[in-house]
This record gives sequence, structure tokens and C-alpha cells, in this order.
Amino acid sequence: MAEPPAPESPALESPAPEAPAPQPPAPAYANVVDFRKVTKRFGNLTVIRDVTFSVPDLPDKGEFIAILGPSGCGKSTVLRLIAGLRPHFPASEGTVLVADRPVVRPGSDRSMVFQDYTSFDNRTVEDNVAFGLECRGVPAAERRARAREWIAKVGLDVKRDATKYPSELSGGMRQRVAIARTLILSPRIILMDEPFGALDPTTRLHMQELLVELWKEAQATVFFVTHSIEEAVYLGDRVYVFSTAPGTIIREMTIPPPTLPPKDMLRERAFIERVSEIRDVMDALASSTRAGD
Ligand SMILES: Nc1ncnc2c1ncn2[C@@H]1O[C@H](COP(=O)(O)OP(=O)(O)OP(=O)(O)O)[C@@H](O)[C@H]1O
Ligand SMILES: [Mg+2]
Repeated sequence: MAEPPAPESPALESPAPEAPAPQPPAPAYANVVDFRKVTKRFGNLTVIRDVTFSVPDLPDKGEFIAILGPSGCGKSTVLRLIAGLRPHFPASEGTVLVADRPVVRPGSDRSMVFQDYTSFDNRTVEDNVAFGLECRGVPAAERRARAREWIAKVGLDVKRDATKYPSELSGGMRQRVAIARTLILSPRIILMDEPFGALDPTTRLHMQELLVELWKEAQATVFFVTHSIEEAVYLGDRVYVFSTAPGTIIREMTIPPPTLPPKDMLRERAFIERVSEIRDVMDALASSTRAGD
């Protein structure tokens, strides 16, 4: 899915000209995200049908939800409904709630990382990472300091990389910038649409490990779309498997947190069994589609 850069990013909408006023304490809510019989149609095409799930608000911790499913089953649609991004938003039927309230537009509580590299080509790494803070009116010295902190956190070298432009970076480095750009804004919900899909296998494993580390610190709820079952099982606290279009959840699996780095987890028996179980579900789905069921 080719996405234009930052204007699509919900966290960066409605730039505030001056520093935001202090926020009142966040109200308590039961669910971070709630889908109630959500159906989305484009004309005659039903993309998702009756999708229902709840992600509860866990104190001081967010859940990591991995979403798997065949191409075209509506995974990106689900993320964009949460983000409030048109034309997928609004739903044709049903209700999408974030923090127990219906989604009405994008907001700074939700932020999206796309598969395609979405940094500004004409901004340096530092200015890309600082972009959202700039929109929020954070003073230059503070945003520079925070951007540099995040550049280091995602494993880039401040001295070597902060002044580079995206065209001078590898794919893995660009996705590190995309992650820094998102997490610097402390969104409550992070929506990731195949963010590592274009990376080589080794870089991908490193990025998974980095993401787990950063996510634990961020205490955000993550929705992570992937075509890799191993990636879903490694990263997910919970995995949703979607059916072929019109997409609906056909399997939900709860997964204990990873105890080892990805390349070692891949060899663990329990891990292999979970991956095989999901692969069987997805293979059955593919063969029933081929048989025209
Ligand atoms: N703007 C649109 N107008 C019409 N149909 C659309 C639009 N956006 C998506 N669709 C259709 O909705 C369906 C689901 O699309 P979606 O992008 O959510 O699938 P996906 O599961 O993310 O697929 P992939 O794994 O290939 O990324 C597809 O059939 C797609 O063609
Ligand atoms: Mg998609």
C-alpha cells in the first residue's frame, strides 16, 4: 500500500502552534480498543464482516496484538478504522471504540507505522524524528535533545546518522527512523502495518528484538500486521487470524512473552508448535479458497 508521508500519520494531524496545555489525568476506561460487529464495504465489496474483539486496558502495560491473514482480507482496513483514516473509516456497520468512545477522527493517542518508508526525503534523520514534536510546538532545543535520544534508542548512531537524509540510509535504518518518529510522541496505541515486510531476514530479527524492548518501555498497545507467522508468534501477546475476504477473526491465540531473542525462540519446541498450529489454520484457509468453498 503506497502511503503518502506524514500527513497520513494520525499522530501528526492538527499541528498545534504553541506548547500544549497540561493534560488532566487520563480517565479510566475498560478497553483500549473495542470492535463490535464491524463491517466495512466499498460499494458491493464487503471487506470485513462482523469483526468483534476487545483489547482490555492493562494497568501500566499494553498488549501486543499480531494480526495475520491472507492478502486482501482487510488487515490494513482494521488498522485504518482504529486510526480513523479515510476511506476505510468510518465503518459501514458496527462500532469501533477507542478508550470506550467511538472513533470520530485521527488523534495523537494513535500513531501508524507503514511498510513503505514514510520519512520526509528533504529532512535529515534528526528533523524527521523531531517532526511530530515540531507540530506540537515543542521548542527547538528540547526537540533536538529528545530526537537525539530517540535516534540512539532505536540503535542509530547520533554522530554518524542524525544529519543524514533518508536516501542515504538502508531499509532497516529507515524503519528505525520511522519507529523513533512514532514512539517519540508516546502514543497510547501504535498501529504497525507490515513494518518489517521489506527487510532482509537478519535485519528483521534485529528489528523484532528492538521493538519488543522499546514496546515494554512505552507501555502502549500495539496492533501489528504481518504475513510472517513466526513474527506474529514472537511479538504477539495475542494473535488474531483473519479469514479470506470478507475478513473475520477465525482464530485467536494467547501467547506467553518471548524469553529469548528471536533467533533462539525459533528453535524452542513450544514456539514451533504454536507456529505449526497457526500454519495449519492458514493452510486450511488457503485450500478451502482454492476449492471454491
Ligand atoms: N479505497 C478503497 N476502495 C475500494 N476498495 C478498497 C480500498 N481500499 C482497500 N480496498 C479493498 O479492500 C480489501 C481489503 O483491503 P486491505 O488493504 O485491508 O487488505 P489487507 O488484508 O491489508 O491486504 P494485504 O495483506 O495485501 O496488505 C481489498 O479487496 C482491497 O482491494
Ligand atoms: Mg495491508
